[in-house]
Amino acid sequence: MSDRLGDPEEIQQDQEIEGSLRPRSMAAFVGQPVLREQLEIFISAAKSRGEPLDHVLLAGPPGLGKTTLANIIALEMGVNIVTTSGPALERKADMAAILTHLEDGDVLFIDEIHRLNRSIEEILYPAMEDFEIDIVIGQGPTARTIRLELPRFTLIGATTRSGLITTPLRDRFGFSHRLEYYSTEDLALIVKRSAGILDVSIDADGAGQLAMRSRGTPRIVNRLLRRVRDFAQVRHEGSISGAIALEALRLFQVDDEGLDRVDREILTLILHKFDGGPVGLSTLAVAIGEESDTIEDVYEPFLLQRGFLKRTPRGRVLTRLGYEHCGATPPATSAGQADLFS
Ligand SMILES: Nc1ncnc2c1ncn2[C@@H]1O[C@H](COP(=O)(O)OP(=O)(O)OP(=O)(O)O)[C@@H](O)[C@H]1O
Ligand SMILES: [Mg+2]
Repeated sequence: MSDRLGDPEEIQQDQEIEGSLRPRSMAAFVGQPVLREQLEIFISAAKSRGEPLDHVLLAGPPGLGKTTLANIIALEMGVNIVTTSGPALERKADMAAILTHLEDGDVLFIDEIHRLNRSIEEILYPAMEDFEIDIVIGQGPTARTIRLELPRFTLIGATTRSGLITTPLRDRFGFSHRLEYYSTEDLALIVKRSAGILDVSIDADGAGQLAMRSRGTPRIVNRLLRRVRDFAQVRHEGSISGAIALEALRLFQVDDEGLDRVDREILTLILHKFDGGPVGLSTLAVAIGEESDTIEDVYEPFLLQRGFLKRTPRGRVLTRLGYEHCGATPPATSAGQADLFS
C-alpha cells in the first residue's frame, strides 16, 4: 500500500517488479523463522489429514510479506487462491457471490480485512465456522431466508492494524500471527536474491548497506535495490558496491537509519512546530499533508519500533533518540516529562 519513493508511474512499475520478486515457496521465503516453522507444521498436518487448512490471520506493517505468504500457503496446499480486499467488498451480495463460487479447499484471501464493513463481516461468521451462509431472497413480507452450504475453504486475512479486528472475527481464526520487522542479515539475503532475479550484480557490502537502511522491510529493500541499480547504471559501471549504494542513498535522501524524507518530516515537525509534542495524530497528519491512517499504518510503526517516537495518551512525542536524530538537544527532563525519556 505504501510508496515512499517515487511518482505514480514508478509505483506501477514497482508493483509489477514486486510480483516477480515474490518468493513462491516456503523454502524461498526468508526470515520469520517462528512463523515459517509453525506454518510448515500446520500445512503438512492438514495435508496429511486431507483437510483444508484452518483459517489464518496475518498481521503486521506493510511490505513484510503477508500477501506473499497467503500465496505461498495456497501453493503449498495445492489449491486455488481467490483474492479480494476489505474495501473492495461493498455489498453483502459481493461477499456472498465470492463465497458461493469457491471450490473445496480454496483459499480466500481478504487483504485489509480490518476495513470490512460490519454487515459483510457478519456473513463471514457462519461461513468460517460452519461453512454456510444465509441468503435473503425477495423483499418485504414475502422475503425468506435460505441457508446455503459452502465448500470447506480456508480464509486468510491480512491486516496492517490487528487492533481494529473485532473480537468475533479474530476468534474465528484458528491460527494468527504477527509478522516482525526483518533483521539486517535476512534483508541482505532478500536483496541478494532479488538482485539475482533482476540480473544486477551487488557485492556483500552493497547488500549490507541497503539492508541496514530498509527499515526492516523486504518491500523497501527491493525498492532501494531498484533505485540504486538505476544509479549504478547511469553513474557507474552497473554493479553495486557499498560505496555506490551509499552515494545513491544519499542522493535519494535515505539517511543512515533508513528514514526517508517523510519520516524525517514527521520528526522535525513534531520538534519544531509542536515543541517535541505531544501532538495528536490528526493534527500531525494535517501538518504533514498525509492521511491519519497512512501515518499510523505506514510511517509510525517503524519510528515507534526504532524508538524515535512514543505514543502517550495525549499524543505523539519525540523521544531522546528522536531529538538526537534531528540533531537537536533533548530538553532537560522536568519531573512531569521524565517518563518521556525512559
Ligand atoms: N520473507 C520474504 N522473503 C523474500 N521476499 C519477501 C519476503 N517478504 C516479502 N518479500 C518481498 O516484499 C514484497 C512485499 O511483500 P508483500 O506484498 O507480501 O507484503 P504485504 O505484507 O502484503 O504488504 P501490504 O501490507 O502492503 O499488503 C514482495 O513482493 C516480496 O518480493
Ligand atoms: Mg499485501
